[in-house]
Amino acid sequence: MPAYIYNIIHVVGIILIFMGFAYGMKQWSKGAAISHGLGLALTLISGFAMVGGKFPMWFFIKLAIWLALGGTLTLVKRKKVTGLAAWIMLVTLGAAAAWTVYHGRFIMS
Ligand code: HEM
Repeated sequence: MPAYIYNIIHVVGIILIFMGFAYGMKQWSKGAAISHGLGLALTLISGFAMVGGKFPMWFFIKLAIWLALGGTLTLVKRKKVTGLAAWIMLVTLGAAAAWTVYHGRFIMS
């Protein structure tokens, strides 16, 4: 499969994760959970495919962010974190993932 396909799957996965959060935070639904779960699966599979068998330091940061985004849905569902706090938490996790791939991976081996 061409490499760019994995990039597209990765980005679509990210979109689905955050759409799941957006819908779920407005009103909890099965669809929100499915979007979030499907997004996590696509992101993980394409991420592993792109890493290509090597597991540098930054990979584990990405994995931790991925795990956090998985666990966060429970916090949102149970309304443990709401409103601005939830918004800040999710944006921070997304920004950390972007930092890791655009900068972190060049300064960490
Ligand atoms: C264990 C999970 C993950 C792994 C192994 C992983 C791995 C990767 C790799 C290897 C790339 C580089 C692709 C390239 O060289 O073109 C990448 C790109 C990217 N990842 Fe991840 N990733 C994971 C999870 C996530 C998550 C959860 C997010 C966001 C919430 C995320 C956001 C991004 C972004 C924004 C890019 C840049 C997209 C691009 O330029 O095409 N990643 N990821």
